[in-house]
Amino acid sequence: MDKSTFEERKTIAGPMHTALRHDSAHKHVSGTADYIDDIPEPVGTLHGALGLTDRAHAEIVAMDLSEVEATPGVVCVLTAKDMPHSNDISPSHLDDEPVLADGLVQFHGQPAFAVIAETRDIARRAARKAKITYRDLPHFTDITDALENGAEIVTKPLTLQRGDAEAELELSPRRLAGRMRIGGQEHFYLESHIAFAIPGEDDEITVWSSTQHPSEVQHMIGHVLGVPSNAVTVQVRRMGGGFGGKETQASQFAVLAAVAAKKLNRAVKFRPDRDEDMMATGKRHDFLVDYDVGFDDEGRIHAVKANYAARCGYSSDLSGPVTDRALFHADSSYFFPHVKLTSQPLKTHTVSNTAYRGFGGPQGMIGGERIIEEIAYALGKDPLDIRKLNFYGEKGSGRDLTPYHQQVEDNIIHRIVSELEVDADYQARRKAIITFNRTSRVIRKGIALTPVKFGISFTMTAFNQAGALVHIYKDGSIHLNHGGTEMGQGVYTKVAQVLADSFQVDISNVKITATSTGKVPNTSATAASSGSDLNGMAAYDAARQIKERLVDFAAERWQTAPENVTFVPNHVKIGEELVPFADFIKQAYFARIQLSAAGFYKTPKIHWDRDTGRGTPFYYFAYGAAVSEVSIDTLTGEYMVDRVDVLHDVGKSLNPAIDIGQVEGGFVQGMGWLTTEELWWDDKGRLRTHAPSTYKIPLASDRPKIFNVKLAEWAENAEMTIGRSKAVGEPPFMLPISVLEALSMAVASVADYRECPRLDTPATPERVLMAVERLRATKA
Ligand code: MTE
Ligand code: HPA
Ligand code: MOS
Repeated sequence: MDKSTFEERKTIAGPMHTALRHDSAHKHVSGTADYIDDIPEPVGTLHGALGLTDRAHAEIVAMDLSEVEATPGVVCVLTAKDMPHSNDISPSHLDDEPVLADGLVQFHGQPAFAVIAETRDIARRAARKAKITYRDLPHFTDITDALENGAEIVTKPLTLQRGDAEAELELSPRRLAGRMRIGGQEHFYLESHIAFAIPGEDDEITVWSSTQHPSEVQHMIGHVLGVPSNAVTVQVRRMGGGFGGKETQASQFAVLAAVAAKKLNRAVKFRPDRDEDMMATGKRHDFLVDYDVGFDDEGRIHAVKANYAARCGYSSDLSGPVTDRALFHADSSYFFPHVKLTSQPLKTHTVSNTAYRGFGGPQGMIGGERIIEEIAYALGKDPLDIRKLNFYGEKGSGRDLTPYHQQVEDNIIHRIVSELEVDADYQARRKAIITFNRTSRVIRKGIALTPVKFGISFTMTAFNQAGALVHIYKDGSIHLNHGGTEMGQGVYTKVAQVLADSFQVDISNVKITATSTGKVPNTSATAASSGSDLNGMAAYDAARQIKERLVDFAAERWQTAPENVTFVPNHVKIGEELVPFADFIKQAYFARIQLSAAGFYKTPKIHWDRDTGRGTPFYYFAYGAAVSEVSIDTLTGEYMVDRVDVLHDVGKSLNPAIDIGQVEGGFVQGMGWLTTEELWWDDKGRLRTHAPSTYKIPLASDRPKIFNVKLAEWAENAEMTIGRSKAVGEPPFMLPISVLEALSMAVASVADYRECPRLDTPATPERVLMAVERLRATKA
C-alpha cells in the first residue's frame, strides 16, 4: 500500500487495527442485545425439557412414562424410538453418542426422554414423574477408577516421538519422575444452551441454535430427521458465551427441538436450566500426567517421557483432538532433545467431556511447566532460569524442532519474556519476596513468570477453511455474512473492520448479520481461536472480487487505466475525480455490475499425519508471558492474587481494545480453572457441583488487585494472516499458569524452597493448606 492512501485511510471510522468497541457492547450492558430466548415466539410455541436418568451405568429395564404423558399441558414425550432416522449425534462419527439413551445409561444425568408441553414449567415438572427401572452395572467415574478397571479408551491414542527418550533418560546426569492431577472445568457461559425450531413446509426446518458450529448442528438435524442438509437452516446471531461448550454440545437440544417441531408442526423451544445444563453437557477434560525427565546440573533438559491420561466421559466427542492438542503443548515453550509423549483418552461413566478454551493445550502446557518447576526445586534455582535455558532456539539453531517435528520458525519467546521481566521488575520483586518470607510467619508470598506458546490452526486440516458472503446494495450499504459465530469474542466486529478497510467506508456502513447455514455453507466451528483469521480472510477475498469488478467498471466508464481507480475514505477516486461511494455504487448497479460475492479462504502450509506423528499442524504460534504475585495465609490456605503483569503477542492487532479484553478475560477464566473451580462427583457418579452455590467461578473481586495487560506492540505475524494479526481467543487462557506457580512458591517457602510442592489443580485453599502442612511435616 502506498503512503498517500495510508494517510487517507485513517480518516474512515473503524478500519483494521483500531481500538473499536465491540459492535454490541452497549447492547450487552443495556439488555438490548437479542439472544435466542428474546426472539418473539409464534402463537402455539411449545417448550421442551429433558428427562434425566439417575444412574451412572445401568440397563434400562423398563421406562413407565404414563404419568408424564397424562400431565395436563403435556403434548408429547419423545424417546430414542421417536428419532425418525437415527438416534446418533456423535461428532466424531463413531456412532457412540445417542440423542436419548436407548436401553443403556452411561452417565448420571444422561437424558432418556424429552417432554414437550405448553409451558417450560409443565414440561419440567412432568419430566420428574417418569418411573424408570434399572439394572445397575459397575461404574467408574474418574481417571484412577478407569485405569484400575481396564483402561478402556474412547478413541485412538496418539504418540509423539523424537530421538530416543528411554535411552537418554538412563544416560542423563539427573532424573526425576512425578505425577500431576489437573482438574476439569465447567464452561459457565452466561446464556445456557438453547434451541428454537420453527417447522417449514415439506421437509424444511429452521432452527435458531446457540452454537459455535451451525453447520454441524445442521448436519445432525438432517441426520436424525433423515432429510438432506438443504432442508435445514441453522442460524445464530450471538451466544452469551460458548468457550468451547457450544462446539458440539448444542446438537442435542437443537435436534430434539427439530424432531418435536416436525412431529407436531409447531414451534418448539428447548432451554435447560443451569443445573440441567451443567449435568447433561460436557466439560473440560481433567488429566493425570505422569512425567519422567532427564536433565543435567545446569538444568538443561535431555529427555522427557510423559503420559497424559484424560477423563473423556462415556463417548468420544472431541476427546481425540483434545488429547492430541494436550500432547502438542506438553513441550510448552521448551526444546526437548529426546521425547516420547503418549495420550490415554479414557472412557468413564461421566458426561462426555468436550472442547474448552485451549482444547487440551492448557493441560498439556501445565505438565511441561511442572517439569520445569521440578527441575528448579531439585537444583535450588529460580524456575525462570531453567525456563530460559530450555526455550526453543531461533530457527535453524538445532533447538527448534517440536515433538511433532514441526520447526518453530517464528520464535519470539525470548524477547517477550525478557521485556516482561524488566517491565514487571521481576528480579527485584522476587528478592524482596524471599526476604519477606524469611520473617513473615503467617502470610507467605510467591512470584512466578511463565511463558505461553500456542499453536494456531485446527489440527484437522480440513477444518481450516472459511467462507463469507458480501452484498453491496444499490444505496451503497454493505451486508456482511460469514461462517464465524459471535460469542462475545468480537469476531463480528473484527471482520466488519476488514470490510470497512477494504472498501474504505465507515464501519457504520457495514451491516453485521446473523450466521446462517443458508448464506455460507460447510463452515467450521468458530473454535481453535481461528475465527477472525479464517473469516477475516474470507471476507477480504469477497471484497477483493467485488472491488476488481468495480475497478474494471470505473476504468471503462471513466476511460482511464485501472491503476487510476482507488478506494479512498468513503469515496472512489477515479483519475482526479472523487465520487462518493454510494453514488459510485448506484452507477455500477445501473451498469449491471454484480455487487455480491462469496469469498473463500483456506490456510496454507499446514499438514498433519496423525499415524506417523509428524507434520506441520500449526500455521504459526501465538506467544505471551505473565508474572503473577500472590499471598497465601499459611493457617487457612486462603490466598490473593496481588499483582499480574502480562505481555501478550497478537501480531499486529486487528482491534487492540477487543484483544486486551480477550487477554484479561482469558486470564481470569484460566485463573478460575487453576484455583477455585472444582468439579466433584460422588460415589454414585452424581455431579454434586452443578450450580453456582457449589461451583465457584471467579468473582469481580477475585481479579488481580493490580492487573497490567500489554500487547507486544512490535509484534507482527510473520505469516500472511489478515492484517498480519494473530489469533487471541485461547492463548491468554494459559497465562495464569503463573498464578499456580506463584502459589507453589509461597507454599514452598515453608520448607525453604527445597521441595517442589507438587500442587494439583485446582489449587483450592484446601489444597494449598494441605500442601503447607505436608511441607511443614517434611521439614520438621
Ligand atoms: N470470548 C468470549 N467473550 N466468549 C467466548 O465464548 N470463547 C473462546 C475465545 N474467547 C469465548 C471467548 C474460545 S474457546 C475460542 S476458540 C475463541 O474465543 C473463538 O473465537 P475466535 O476464533 O473468533 O477467537
Ligand atoms: N480446536 C478446537 N476445536 C476443534 C479442534 C481444535 O484443534 N479440532 C476440532 N475441533
Ligand atoms: Mo474454543 S475450545 O476452540 O471453542
